[in-house]
Amino acid sequence: MENHHHHHRGTGTGTGTGTGPGTATGTATGTGPGTATGPATGTGPGTATGTGTGTGPAAGTDDSAMAELLDLDAEVLHAYLSEVTALIQQLAAELPPRRILDLGSGTGTGALALLQRFEGADAVALDISAQLLHHLRDKARDLGVADRVRTVQADLDASWPVLDTVDLAWASSSLHHMADPDRVLTGVFAALRPGGLLAVIEMDSFPRFLPDDLGLGRPGLEARCHAALAERQAHEVPQLGSNWSSRLSQAGFTIEAERPFVIDLKPPLPASAGRYAQASLRRIRSSLDGGIGADDLATLDTLLDSDEPDSILQRGDLTVRTARTAWVARRP
Ligand SMILES: C[S@@+](CC[C@H](N)C(=O)[O-])C[C@H]1O[C@@H](n2cnc3c(N)ncnc32)[C@H](O)[C@@H]1O
Repeated sequence: MENHHHHHRGTGTGTGTGTGPGTATGTATGTGPGTATGPATGTGPGTATGTGTGTGPAAGTDDSAMAELLDLDAEVLHAYLSEVTALIQQLAAELPPRRILDLGSGTGTGALALLQRFEGADAVALDISAQLLHHLRDKARDLGVADRVRTVQADLDASWPVLDTVDLAWASSSLHHMADPDRVLTGVFAALRPGGLLAVIEMDSFPRFLPDDLGLGRPGLEARCHAALAERQAHEVPQLGSNWSSRLSQAGFTIEAERPFVIDLKPPLPASAGRYAQASLRRIRSSLDGGIGADDLATLDTLLDSDEPDSILQRGDLTVRTARTAWVARRP
């Protein structure tokens, strides 16, 4: 994993260890304007080296499949994404945001869409994964917005990083990964200026793509995969599907909007939809681990094999069905 460092003048405490004379080098990366204040901040003389190495669930994992999935999600669901940012724009009409914070940014779907929507803004993209942030910076460069986005590698379960006050925060499918989302919400509240907005987005249902009868294997494969996935997630992601309205209120926010988005894309779909289906089902498969029968697993592997004539990439009957909810909350 690559760990980009950026010189900064921040103070505070981090998990970085000081070695040698010189500047504090944090995990705050990027080329945004202003000073970079990273989560790893040097105390005393020496060099603070980042928080990001070897800690947290993402350590040592290869996030390239995740990066692909997140990018395809953004590409295939671009219409929904644009509706969410338009909703935020309406609610921020009085004072368009200049500073944006994307929490658990992944490959930057939120940050990059918001930078497009708010042309006078800069963004900080924060994630635990150095690899995803690296990918995000590449995308930002391709889009010509590298100078408007700064990445910060930090584990929000560890401590709230040192960040400048922001006008708009965004957390999409990320809060449920946190051990203590309420503490994170308290951190976001404090990081927002009074009047500032927080958008929280959660998936009500993981996307589905397949017809019940595939003409291959036993009908109902995808439904069985989802049932097995739900069972696993009940243990592994207990915060999934939690009541964000009440948690936002408890953290002091006023809820300005709670909007369901029902996505139901029908054929003909672009080729990216097939790749999105493949990446999603691969992800499900990797976490099923015995949750479905051997016959189903064999059918799934046939579908997921790009070289198979029965590959999911070859199907003309794919749909994309998913539902998300967006909450837009204001710090009074
Ligand atoms: C499902 S992805 C969503 C990514 C992005 N927000 C999007 O909507 O495309 C969840 C992200 O949260 C990040 N994440 C999980 N736990 C985290 C933690 N403790 N601190 C910071 N980021 C975390 C993951 O690395 C991942 O990029």
